[in-house]
Amino acid sequence: MNKQALDIMVIGGGGREHAIIRTLKKSPMARKIYALPGNGGISLDAECVNISATDLEGIVEFAKNNKIDFAAVIPDDPLAMGLTDMLREIGIPCFGPTKDAAIIESSKAFAKQLMQKYGIPTADYRVFTDPDEAIAYIGGHSLPVVIKADGLALGKGVLICQTHEEAEEAIIDMMRGGKFGKSGSTIVIEEYLTGPEVSVLAFTDGKTIVPLPSSMDHKRALDGDMGLNTGGMGAVAPNPYYTDEAMAQATERIIRPTIESMNKEGRTFKGCLYFGLMLTKDGPKVIEYNCRFGDPETQAVLPLLESDLLEIMLAVENGTLEETEVKISDKHSCCLVLASGGYPEKYEKGKQIIIDDFPADVGIFHAGTKLENERFYTSGGRVLGITAVRESLKEAVGAAYEAAKHIEFEKMYMRHDIGKRALETCDKQ
Ligand code: AMP
Ligand code: GLY
Repeated sequence: MNKQALDIMVIGGGGREHAIIRTLKKSPMARKIYALPGNGGISLDAECVNISATDLEGIVEFAKNNKIDFAAVIPDDPLAMGLTDMLREIGIPCFGPTKDAAIIESSKAFAKQLMQKYGIPTADYRVFTDPDEAIAYIGGHSLPVVIKADGLALGKGVLICQTHEEAEEAIIDMMRGGKFGKSGSTIVIEEYLTGPEVSVLAFTDGKTIVPLPSSMDHKRALDGDMGLNTGGMGAVAPNPYYTDEAMAQATERIIRPTIESMNKEGRTFKGCLYFGLMLTKDGPKVIEYNCRFGDPETQAVLPLLESDLLEIMLAVENGTLEETEVKISDKHSCCLVLASGGYPEKYEKGKQIIIDDFPADVGIFHAGTKLENERFYTSGGRVLGITAVRESLKEAVGAAYEAAKHIEFEKMYMRHDIGKRALETCDKQ
């Protein structure tokens, strides 16, 4: 492979993929970048090809026909379906775990069993495939209780139930009502944990682990962490709750043992592993693993990366991460998501987006936009991510909100308190 001029394809088409493409574009080794399928905004930075991220045959065909040198598979679905295996089989190196390793996200039951087997701290749990047994068990469970669909469910397969009746209803919906399709035929019932949440994205080639700065997602739709769970309404990085002590504990008890246990299981994980942690009074515990970059966390974290992302991705694939420089800025970032009113429930699409005099030192990542006659229109629930990087978190949050004033579309919606809790924590420290 001529390392100086690579034709790359990035699979996916959200704000996270836009942030990744922008970062890859800075690499002197990137000659051409395709996005499959990409979106309106991404088309300014890459050549978008209208092939869906789950059309595995179509992607493989495209890769062959266009002599792709390197692929970055970003979303969970194609990873869980085995796209990286198919690409590697035809000699195309890629960034992203094998199907066997992606199971750490695609089956919550697998993840829980892995943690139990290797003593990795997480909430106590039981796995059920029989609804009657699950219902019988729930009667004696403390409240609140957490019910999770085993498989992928677009971040919506987790229910925190305050009463036994609510829990029973959730079990019936998932297991008998097919609420999450096949993803809900197996469920995990687990103990409710409390404490601040931290997202940690870590590059690993299965031997070396390089964590990126920690971040804080804001999952709920409304201010004050109220309303429904969404894909994420904003993120700040680094996360002030993730102190040096918490980081040392998480590294020793969770991050390193997870990579080692996957090796022992014959499922070596190469790619970006996402650790969703809760900092409980008994130390950090795993809430979830994702086999991929988080969204919007990536939009907050990647702008803090000072090294060449393409070089890092190649090193992950080649097993040479130990020799690769990963330099991180000591600045702070805030990503604010602009969404369509109504998201995560029903919302309208096709609203024209007006961007006027947007500050040049703030990034815009497109999540759900389309481009028509040189105009952008909304095409999804999360529309844009605005990321400001500054010396302090306070400045970053201020700059992101200031920049948002330069964007308008009908029924635009954002949270007004992204970073607020993080700032209150900084003040206390
Ligand atoms: P997940 O999709 O597994 O990240 O879950 C979505 C959200 O549900 C998490 O970000 C947590 O806020 C919450 N959650 C999941 N599991 C638990 C748990 N065991 N205890 C308390 N909250 C939880
Ligand atoms: N922001 C949470 C996730 O990417 O799963």
